[in-house]
Amino acid sequence: MRVLAIETSCDETAVAVLEAFGALPSISFRTLGNALLSQAAKHAAFGGVFPSLAKREHAAVIVPLIEDALRQASMLREEYTDISAYSDALPALFAHEPGLAQQMAAFLSRAGKPELDAIAVTAGPGLEPALWVGINAAKALALAWDLPLLPQNHMEGHFLSSLIQNDQLEGIALPVLGLLISGGHTEFVVMREWLRYTTIGETVDDAVGEAFDKTARLLGLPYPGGPEISKLAEAARTEGVQSSFSLPRPMKDSGDLRFSFSGLKTAVRYTVEKIESLTDAHRKELALEFEQAVGDVIVGKTRKALEDTGARTFLIGGGVAANTHIRRELTNLVETSFPDMKLCLPHPKDTGDNAIMIAQVALARLLSGQQPRGGDIRADGNLSF
Ligand code: KG4
Ligand code: ZN
Repeated sequence: MRVLAIETSCDETAVAVLEAFGALPSISFRTLGNALLSQAAKHAAFGGVFPSLAKREHAAVIVPLIEDALRQASMLREEYTDISAYSDALPALFAHEPGLAQQMAAFLSRAGKPELDAIAVTAGPGLEPALWVGINAAKALALAWDLPLLPQNHMEGHFLSSLIQNDQLEGIALPVLGLLISGGHTEFVVMREWLRYTTIGETVDDAVGEAFDKTARLLGLPYPGGPEISKLAEAARTEGVQSSFSLPRPMKDSGDLRFSFSGLKTAVRYTVEKIESLTDAHRKELALEFEQAVGDVIVGKTRKALEDTGARTFLIGGGVAANTHIRRELTNLVETSFPDMKLCLPHPKDTGDNAIMIAQVALARLLSGQQPRGGDIRADGNLSF
């Protein structure tokens, strides 16, 4: 089966073409094309993702990226194609982006139908104006090529893709516990049966990536702040720097699986406000203490979640799963306290947003015989599992 997937939930515009064989619990994937553009540098000036800019940037590059992914997959059949049967529908699909209707019409009139089984697209969670660009582009392709359109959950993409190693999904024992940590989410999700999920704990306020980004901003570091904080903290550890600051470990001993990170960010703010002039040495020590605090909370909660669920597999996913300290601490936890557990740590280059993970979820569902849901597809910024 072959799927083209589109992801535009935040500040990455991504299109991927994947092929897969097998059926759950054993599937092999092959990436045939993968085109991705990050807008992160454009949002840096705002210190975070600016939704209307994200939408405009997605709209500017989505058609070239679709073309690029298909070309990489050797599926771009450049031939004159009559689009009169559906061309009237395009301006309505792109009512807010008239330029995009024209670009899409021009592309479709010179690209024959590729050998695909479906079009998949992220329907949420994420920024709704950004999600709509991908959804409308996917609708146009599904309409033009008469293919099923499969809406997908972005967080399920992070979850499932973390279980896939070297393009193979195999040997995964259930139940699986996932810790999803990103710019918008911090949650424990359990999969007891394939593709059925239960959220058993989440943040009551900020997501962990958001706490990294906000702390970085307080320290005068650029967006996205996670990698910046991580770099400073790792340098501090290598140099043997001790932090002279002390930050709270919010809800570490609350006895449940809820997280809270807004107090930690506020504690950083108070600390910074008390410093007369912030030096690089202060930044390094604060980054170290902040990351240690986050790591301590995550390890404590994960220990409880692993005990409570009796999980046989543990994965981490989402952008913050690239964090070296968190990866190291969780690896230690599993090795010392849960030695029989299979730990799935995605490669740091695969933890950020991408369309491969969206195609993987769609393919896993198709190969397990799940029929596409009917009805209209809408962007849902708060889509849950
Ligand atoms: O999953 P993702 O790419 O987008 C969302 O769905 O949110 O996650 C982005 C988040 C940002 O908050 C970014 O600062 C954080 O992941 N991040 C990191 C690291 N790399 C990315 N946080 C800590 N350490 C890192 N190495
Ligand atoms: Zn994400």
